[in-house]
Amino acid sequence: MLRLLLVVLTVVNVRACYWNAQCTYQLFGSKTPYDTVRGDIRDHPLPAHCQAVSIWTLNRHGNRNPGTSVTVGMKEVADLRDEIINSYLSGTSQLCAQDIEDFRKFNWNSTLETTQSYLTGVGYEELYDIAKRIREKYPHLLYGSADKFYLRPTNEQRTITSCAAFAHGFTDGKNLNLTIDEPRTRDDVIRPYENCDRYQQDVKAGPTLAYQLDSYFISPEYIAIQNAVQYRLGLSTKLNASSIFSMYEMCRFLRSWTKTLKSPWCAPFTEQDLITLEYYDDIRHYYRNGYGSWVNENLGRLPLKDLYDNFLDVVQGKGRKLNAYFTHDTMMEMVFCALGLYKEDPPIQALLMDPERVWRTSYIGAFSGNLMAVLNSCLESGTQHSYKVQLFINEKPTPICPLTGCTWEEFQEKFKPFTNANLDFCSMTYVHDVEDEHTSPSTNAAPPTKAFWNWY
Ligand SMILES: *[C@@H]1O[C@H](CO)[C@@H](O)[C@H](O)[C@H]1NC(C)=O
Ligand SMILES: *[C@@H]1O[C@H](CO)[C@@H](O)[C@H](O)[C@H]1NC(C)=O
Ligand SMILES: *[C@@H]1O[C@H](CO)[C@@H](O)[C@H](O)[C@H]1NC(C)=O
Repeated sequence: MLRLLLVVLTVVNVRACYWNAQCTYQLFGSKTPYDTVRGDIRDHPLPAHCQAVSIWTLNRHGNRNPGTSVTVGMKEVADLRDEIINSYLSGTSQLCAQDIEDFRKFNWNSTLETTQSYLTGVGYEELYDIAKRIREKYPHLLYGSADKFYLRPTNEQRTITSCAAFAHGFTDGKNLNLTIDEPRTRDDVIRPYENCDRYQQDVKAGPTLAYQLDSYFISPEYIAIQNAVQYRLGLSTKLNASSIFSMYEMCRFLRSWTKTLKSPWCAPFTEQDLITLEYYDDIRHYYRNGYGSWVNENLGRLPLKDLYDNFLDVVQGKGRKLNAYFTHDTMMEMVFCALGLYKEDPPIQALLMDPERVWRTSYIGAFSGNLMAVLNSCLESGTQHSYKVQLFINEKPTPICPLTGCTWEEFQEKFKPFTNANLDFCSMTYVHDVEDEHTSPSTNAAPPTKAFWNWY
């Protein structure tokens, strides 16, 4: 009995502190830093007897400031700082002294209120470093006229600056000129969803997404976090569902701007809380950008048509050495769906988190996430000439092509179907027929079951 009591007392007395936790949780959905999830393009061997002749890459912009509505919520939570400290002083807080000291050092940076969604210095470095690694890996690609190297961002500060950062990293120390194209007000290659009525009305503003997100915020797991954080901080101000999520936003944005990847705003959360909070983006992106709607896979085909067309040009003796585009996680995830990657069966559900899910925004929608295809020219057995295509996501191999490369024929088989990509289905008068569902090259992209659509 005494022993049991001792054990209980020990457990209660060893209060978990955030500041000196040996191993803090690293996955923060779409706000995960690129370095947390990337591989390294320099570590992958070229296919035997091959040299890269062309690179096509689609990139999400790097680390950015929070957007407008998130910034508003964060500022409200920032205003709780003094109350958090006072609660500690009056003995109602469960937080550790050092975590409170770190709260004291915190100040709201009002620049955030005038630079919403701008690329940050961290984001600039992410793109610079990606391009630098490509430059180091493929030095023999780095000559030729400016028209051989083509870059284009979408029409946003964060993508335009990401493009500039990439160009800087690609050319640093080299006498090399690139073509940086003007962003287009309407870009149906790298942002086709923006002007797609079917997407805007049925998917982005549709009922399924809203239903799933509402379900998440009233789930028992979420309400438990809300109650636990209220208790740990010991505040008299009642925290509601959105203030808890704003605190999570504070945690994940602010930590991403530090060298140590820590922020006192993460201290109120346990690792299990962060795992549950991470799931929010997976649900949101699954229904907004992913397999939750047939529209998304179809939108993802547009950039892949551009990839195929460019590599075909090179094989036919024309074409560029570099095509680099700078876009958004929405586009990246649509492309992954068009490729049949990270598919969940049964679909992601707000109220049923599968810890083994492969649709995981931390890995597929991190800042600076990218898809990179490398066309290699090869000389096999002396005189036999061929092409091999390698495909990387976040500088790691993918199941689409082996690390040794798809043959040109295999590549054609997988990617030629994208050449008939169009936006006809975006019209609200277009009748979606399951019969002409486009199937992806590597998997059979079966449409969601009828039961699933009826269930909302
Ligand atoms: C506030 O943010 C801006 C933009 O990121 C940065 O340049 C500035 O140094 C920050 N100010 C403080 C006091 O941290
Ligand atoms: C790049 O452009 C500059 C300015 O037009 C020119 O002087 C330089 O020779 C060019 N470099 C190459 C490699 O074409
Ligand atoms: C949650 O609390 C914040 C801050 O007090 C408030 O601005 C917001 O309207 C509340 N949200 C809901 C859904 O009640």
